[in-house]
Amino acid sequence: MSSKPLWSGRFDSAPDPAAFDFGVSFPFDRRLFEDDVTGSLAWADALARAGVLTAEDARAIKEALTAILEQGRTNPAWVSGDDEDVHSFVERQLVTRIGDAGRRLHTGRSRNEQVSVDLRLYLRRRIPLLQEKLRATIAAFADQAERAGEALMPSYTHMRRAMPVLVSHFLLSHAAALRRDHARLEAAREEANALTLGSGAIAGTGYAIDTKTLAGALGFDRVVANSMDASSDRDFAATFLHAVSLAMVHLSRIAEDFILMTGEEFGFFELADSSATGSSMMPQKKNPDPLELVRGKAGRAIGNLTGFLVTMKGLPTGYNKDLQEDKEPLFDAEDTLAVSLDATASVIRNLGLHPDRMGRAAAGLLLATDVADYLVSRGMPFRQAHEVVGAMVRQLLAQQRDFESLSLDEWRQSSPLFGDDVKEHVTAAASVKARKTPQSTNPDAVEAALRELRSWLAGGSRV
Ligand code: ARG
Repeated sequence: MSSKPLWSGRFDSAPDPAAFDFGVSFPFDRRLFEDDVTGSLAWADALARAGVLTAEDARAIKEALTAILEQGRTNPAWVSGDDEDVHSFVERQLVTRIGDAGRRLHTGRSRNEQVSVDLRLYLRRRIPLLQEKLRATIAAFADQAERAGEALMPSYTHMRRAMPVLVSHFLLSHAAALRRDHARLEAAREEANALTLGSGAIAGTGYAIDTKTLAGALGFDRVVANSMDASSDRDFAATFLHAVSLAMVHLSRIAEDFILMTGEEFGFFELADSSATGSSMMPQKKNPDPLELVRGKAGRAIGNLTGFLVTMKGLPTGYNKDLQEDKEPLFDAEDTLAVSLDATASVIRNLGLHPDRMGRAAAGLLLATDVADYLVSRGMPFRQAHEVVGAMVRQLLAQQRDFESLSLDEWRQSSPLFGDDVKEHVTAAASVKARKTPQSTNPDAVEAALRELRSWLAGGSRV
């Protein structure tokens, strides 16, 4: 510790180095450098407007802060050292440059509200970068859906073959979940977008700060409602961690699907060589390491959320140093989602399709529902049709045959309602065409969904 802490005045002796080091956050909150300076630039103006700073001091402060920001941007390694936290670093740099004017900047302000503002500004500028990566991942699914065309595959419930679907429908199902993540991140960004300055340490500041104007200057769309709440409110951080966790849960499930479906047992998709690794011992292996890592990292993101909620749950009203524990899980969650999205997008982009294998798996007994629907269209009550077809399935299974091999006579042995058009109704292609609703795997519906997704992707990105 080379510099005096910001709060040394009240103390007779310097803090015990071990205790001080334990409380230091600069090694990780240096990530808030840019936001800390941004907040301070606006605070200097607010103090000048309130008549607390002379125009001259405010100008000197802003010039120096701008130079500090510039230096930190061109040389990020400079933003380091043994200051207690990023706020202390910036203030020390300011005082070194301009002396007493710099010592006036913290008038009426507390680090409690400052750190909250910094984190809010940080999320506001960083969330769009995650959203951009989400868009890229979603676009990879859209491109593959386009490539898949009319290819068919089985869908699964209980991990057992359920009904035929278009491969594109399956791919777009993952895009649908990721779009919710995009919206959830947007909600986290909106929740963070409130000004806490003016709250002081807890009771509110004693200077006539025009908080509305200050909020506007910093691009916040509102001012927090209660200074006591503001000093320890980290709901926006929890919301962000939740949004990230759920996105990671989705990526993990995507990973699981493609680990299975690119393996020998399924062989529906082909993992690109660039998305796989080999084994040091078994020459035949093509391992889906990137997907497995994404699945593994989901646990870490969920850990960040649960750990943080546990940190919050016992805190009495007002700032407590425990709150410093908000930053590392938040940054780690952000980094984890960013790399996982990049990895997932790359795997999906380079995936090969095996329509023949998928098509073969989409035929056979999973057309049973279509057979039952055929009988219903000929007037049989569905419950009865279900029973008739169930008996057919039992028999076919025993004979190791499927519907396709039945002669018209054999069809009619099960029900006289079967006509010679049954064969054309009982195919995977006919099955998907027979779906009727907009959210279904009906080819027209899927094409419309893809078109809608394309226009969403084409619509404004903020990055
Ligand atoms: N490093 C602190 C944090 O991350 C900044 C706020 C410090 N406030 C205080 N009263 N010690 O929360």
